[in-house]
Amino acid sequence: MKVPHYQNIVILTGAGISAESGLATFRGDGGLWEGHNVMDVATPEAFRRDPVMVHRFYNERRKDLFKVKPNPAHKALARLEGKHKGEVIIVTQNIDNLHQLAGSKNVLHMHGEMLKVRCRQCHQVFDWEGDTSEHLACPSCQAKPALRPHIVWFNEVPFHMEEIEVALYTADLFVSIGTSGAVYPAAGFISMIRSMGKAHSVELNLEPSEGQSLFAETHYGKATKIVPAFVDKLLKETG
Ligand code: OAD
Repeated sequence: MKVPHYQNIVILTGAGISAESGLATFRGDGGLWEGHNVMDVATPEAFRRDPVMVHRFYNERRKDLFKVKPNPAHKALARLEGKHKGEVIIVTQNIDNLHQLAGSKNVLHMHGEMLKVRCRQCHQVFDWEGDTSEHLACPSCQAKPALRPHIVWFNEVPFHMEEIEVALYTADLFVSIGTSGAVYPAAGFISMIRSMGKAHSVELNLEPSEGQSLFAETHYGKATKIVPAFVDKLLKETG
């Protein structure tokens, strides 16, 4: 049997890939994210209403990042990028830095990054490891209050969409990992892939996602088991 050789691989990841590293998913635990309704902490309205609470919430999440490490699923994707002869792009909905810590280079954070902040006056983006608050001035334009998490909240436009669309159009393998398929536009990527009819599509998740029936191939189980197994098989087949 002829094994397909994939040139351009697009991998969409969600919170499920980081769950076994110790970071909470969004829709587990009764639909709460670290004890909060997502809409109470991840909207521009929530930030306008109670910036102190939203800063505090993201300060805690940022601290969590220094307690966790990439797991074998993140590492397997970095291995794939290192060994695959074509292109591998990770499009992640995650705001953690675990793909980069695992060694992945080609990562698009469509929902932003916890280790960055942005000035809401001059729009400059800064690497940021400490806490933020309304008392801090922008390091560039000195406006105050100015800083906000560099995170895409509900009702805001995700980052890198043009680049992501180009990657999806040229993909011949699309793999979705650890996402519930509940949040658009990422949830719609599989429909785009299907309508173009060019790429093979694979879902790797703990349980069937909302878009499960649209995938050509599915594997269910913990990411730390099924992602390395999938990557090893792919590298063996495509040499
Ligand atoms: P969700 O919490 O909605 O979904 C996580 C998925 O991972 C679920 O389908 C779980 O079954 C699966 N899962 C859990 N543990 C797993 C494991 N160990 N191995 C494999 N799969 C596992 O998270 P996302 O789909 O990433 O957006 O959520 C999408 C967006 O909704 C987030 O980026 C965030 C949120 O609101 C913003 O904040 C803008």
